[in-house]
Amino acid sequence: MADLILGAGYIGARLAELAMQSGREVVLADNWFATERAQLDGIGARVETVDIRSGDDLSRVIPPDTERVFLLAAQASRPLSVSDPDYTEETNLTGARRVAEAVAKSGCRSLVYASSLHVYGPSLSGEIGPDHPYGPQGDLSHLSKIYAELCLDLYARRHGFELSLMRLGIVYGPSPVMHERPESQTVVDKFKRLAAAGEELTLDDGGRATIGVVHVDDVAKIMLDAPPGAANVAAETVTVADVAALARGEEPSGGATHTFASPFEYEHALAEYMR
Ligand SMILES: NC(=O)c1ccc[n+]([C@@H]2O[C@H](COP(=O)([O-])OP(=O)(O)OC[C@H]3O[C@@H](n4cnc5c(N)ncnc54)[C@H](O)[C@@H]3O)[C@@H](O)[C@H]2O)c1
Repeated sequence: MADLILGAGYIGARLAELAMQSGREVVLADNWFATERAQLDGIGARVETVDIRSGDDLSRVIPPDTERVFLLAAQASRPLSVSDPDYTEETNLTGARRVAEAVAKSGCRSLVYASSLHVYGPSLSGEIGPDHPYGPQGDLSHLSKIYAELCLDLYARRHGFELSLMRLGIVYGPSPVMHERPESQTVVDKFKRLAAAGEELTLDDGGRATIGVVHVDDVAKIMLDAPPGAANVAAETVTVADVAALARGEEPSGGATHTFASPFEYEHALAEYMR
């Protein structure tokens, strides 16, 4: 019985490492859109070429004895969703639906989906739990999370498999797969790297945006034991200006407009990582 990780990117590669360390058999699959196959050399998992837009690819890689499928394959970059909306929709909408169909057909009992805290939209206040309604979206890569959540839920109810919707904050920390191109880098590691190089940190809107943040090791650990249903995966809620202050070695001033409620335990703290 193996776990199948669709999307052998930044989070998928670290998830595979932790799963294997805990004695699980793992298959990692990707179409090499954002990740190069060679980046997985040395991980030790079986690696397959699979495009989630292809039902045939998915049937081949989800045998009936698959224990759990993790769906992390996506066109996850906001800038690329503007320059290539068709690819974003084909992967994140049609691809997600085809994964649900393939899971149902295989008889696999459990699907874990990497969603995003962005589903709640902007302008939040108070404590945001998983029952908070979806909000307006600013780009197709994040809008597609709402479609995928609802589509996977539809298939899970129809076919009786267990579904975990993990709404991730901004993930940071080292993984075997780190992306070089700026479109695929997120704010925490970008600011850490720029500050270390003595470069300026550019803050949109003064860095007032509130974000949830979480270390990739905590994400991987939580996803491996993901409970059914929707949950937020964020260790801390901070502003982008706080991230910049920590990267510069300054005291963050706070001012987050809301917090994300999360039922999990976290080992890693942002301030320690940025030190
Ligand atoms: N990293 C974060 O901060 C973060 C935050 C919130 C949510 N997420 C979500 O978690 C998931 C994984 O994120 P990540 O940071 O590992 O991204 P990533 O880009 O590193 O990994 C996604 C992988 O999917 C692959 N892929 C793209 N199109 C595909 C297709 N058609 N078929 C098969 N594979 C395909 C890419 O090549 C890439 O390796 C994504 O859904 C992302 O939206 C990530």
